[in-house]
Amino acid sequence: FAAPVDATKCGNADTLPTCTNIKDANCCPPPNPNITDYVLPVNQPLRVRPAAQLADNKYIEKYNKAMKIMRSLPKDHPHSFAQQAAIHCAYCDSAYEMVGFPNVKMDVHFSWLFFPFHRWYLHFYEKILGKLIGDPTFAIPYWNWDSPDGMPIPAMFADHNSPLFDKLRDDNHQPPLKIDLNYSKSTPSPVGDELIQANYKVMYNQMVSSSKTPELFFGGAYRGGEAQVKAAGAIENQPHTQLHIWTGDPEQKYGEDMGRFFSAGRDPLFYSHHANVDRMWNIWKTLPGKNRKDIDDPDWLDSAFLFYDENEKLVRVKVRDCVDTKKMGYVYQDVPLPWLGSRP
Ligand code: C2O
Repeated sequence: FAAPVDATKCGNADTLPTCTNIKDANCCPPPNPNITDYVLPVNQPLRVRPAAQLADNKYIEKYNKAMKIMRSLPKDHPHSFAQQAAIHCAYCDSAYEMVGFPNVKMDVHFSWLFFPFHRWYLHFYEKILGKLIGDPTFAIPYWNWDSPDGMPIPAMFADHNSPLFDKLRDDNHQPPLKIDLNYSKSTPSPVGDELIQANYKVMYNQMVSSSKTPELFFGGAYRGGEAQVKAAGAIENQPHTQLHIWTGDPEQKYGEDMGRFFSAGRDPLFYSHHANVDRMWNIWKTLPGKNRKDIDDPDWLDSAFLFYDENEKLVRVKVRDCVDTKKMGYVYQDVPLPWLGSRP
């Protein structure tokens, strides 16, 4: 069975009260009885997602403007930042039941749903932002943490006066400090060139050595009716998780915002972190090796999620429609991959 979610069965985010003390576990979207199957528009303008550290002032102004509008919408508006953030809580803290499997709740992490879910999530976030400023070519920036000049938190997100800023981050991890892709709270991070080389090794290992098959890259099969499988793919495991923990505020009880599923989407940086994760999917398919291709199992291809699109329509999207970003209307700005030469 594939694993589509049941829109009529969005309830309390089950894992929230059990792993935190948070009682208000409602992160479902505004209800809507009309769900349509999403059809990718043809002939849409191509959106090019820039590396955040390379974006110019004109671009940053545009993103600031879009985010300002998004933050000003009423909380129950499907395009509001609060609703966009709640999507992560709903899909990641088990608010949804799967179609045909009452009481089987879904969590998109630790399985082959990780990459496609987050790809669709960013897709609508980006289209909504573009709509808010009347620019269908608007593309979100990616946090280029696999390249030395992209390793610190990108400047546009660290500007305290910007709507892209979030105060619930680690004060000790502000730019120009570079991310440690092996980050753990108990071990000190290397510095200087040693840190950069260690980061390259992580990238090479996760993208090349440990990702030789679709299952290793995407994560284990997770089908309709099954409980969460806990079989994350290589990139989801590392560095994706380390980036979340490193960014979140250690003074907060649950490492908010980035450090926990329920709150991660409240930091605008989340979407750029995940844009780079998403970019890795495109890059992985171009690396040598005959097994570096999308999963062909129909249960994966027919798994589905629900999102409000930029026209406030609730739409059902399938994994099969997100395997080619060009068909979705976007690509990533090309930058060098310095880690590709870092074979241990
Ligand atoms: Cu849905 Cu980075 O996690």
